[in-house]
Amino acid sequence: METELKNLKGQALREISKVEDEEALELFRVKYLGRKGKLPLIIRSISKLSPRQRPRAGKLANEFKHLLEKKIAALKNELEERARRERIAQQEVDVTLPGADFHLGRKHPLTLTLEEIIDIFRGLGFKLESGPEVETEYYNFDALNMPAEHPARDMQDTLYLIGGALLRTHTSPVQIRVMEKMPPPIRMICAGKAFRADTADASHSPMFHQLEGLMVDRRISLANLKGVLSVFIHRFFGPKTRIRFRPSFFPFTEPSAEVDISCVVCGGKGCRLCSRSGWLEILGAGMVDPAVFSAVGYDSRKYTGFAFGMGIERIAMLKYGIDDIRLFFDNDLRFLNQF
Ligand code: DAH
Repeated sequence: METELKNLKGQALREISKVEDEEALELFRVKYLGRKGKLPLIIRSISKLSPRQRPRAGKLANEFKHLLEKKIAALKNELEERARRERIAQQEVDVTLPGADFHLGRKHPLTLTLEEIIDIFRGLGFKLESGPEVETEYYNFDALNMPAEHPARDMQDTLYLIGGALLRTHTSPVQIRVMEKMPPPIRMICAGKAFRADTADASHSPMFHQLEGLMVDRRISLANLKGVLSVFIHRFFGPKTRIRFRPSFFPFTEPSAEVDISCVVCGGKGCRLCSRSGWLEILGAGMVDPAVFSAVGYDSRKYTGFAFGMGIERIAMLKYGIDDIRLFFDNDLRFLNQF
């Protein structure tokens, strides 16, 4: 029995040294330790030995069994580790692979237009200011010389909020807020959202954007207004653009004007865009009404000023040849990706 065990041990150790993969190891385990394996066979036959021989044979057989179990476990670990390392080697990062593309997005056409306009006025010394979108009637209307019952209020169908606040119908209330804050001289612009109870169509949107300008100092005249707006228009629409000031009315300016430019499509010959007139209206402007100055406590005998306001959507539509204002707000990437 002892020699039998010794031979089996030698055979087993030789065999296991040749095992190369987990499958072969399992076959080896079954062959030696499995229920019908070589070692259990020997262990079962121990009972047939004489009582004197049994303990020693039993001890040897057990030692052999534990040795095999240990060797098998160790080899199993080693083979698993080897397989893991091979898998990692195959998955190694390929540094020559092009990087994953990430989409940075781009600026909205209204943002581009606004930035360009702001840049031009900044270059002329105008400071960018801002004010709230939720306003009071006082700032949106009364202080701008549009008292309650004034028909001009009807022209700006308003979205009123509970408690008497309203969504500003234009950016002009920012003029009042800035003048309340500081004395002349003032050279400001502001840009932002305005709201009117309009039904959306190709040229109307209940939310839109405006850019407002105000300059107040001693001896500011209509000539200064024309000069500033001419510089802006020539920089923004090109130096060949012709400019026309047309008398108009705004409660907060006197005199008031609407400013037209020669048509960006036909250059003034007359086409569909300009309704055959050759001209496109782009903004409202005028000399600040003394009533507005008295609302903010400025002395209108000492100071004069001009103001202007324009719709950013309209300017962007003319610049880029866009024929429907709703395109700005649909979030359709086929449109937005063109800018
Ligand atoms: N607030 C006017 C509007 O929404 C635009 C405007 C006209 C603003 C003349 C001005 C101005 O500052 O002087 O229609």
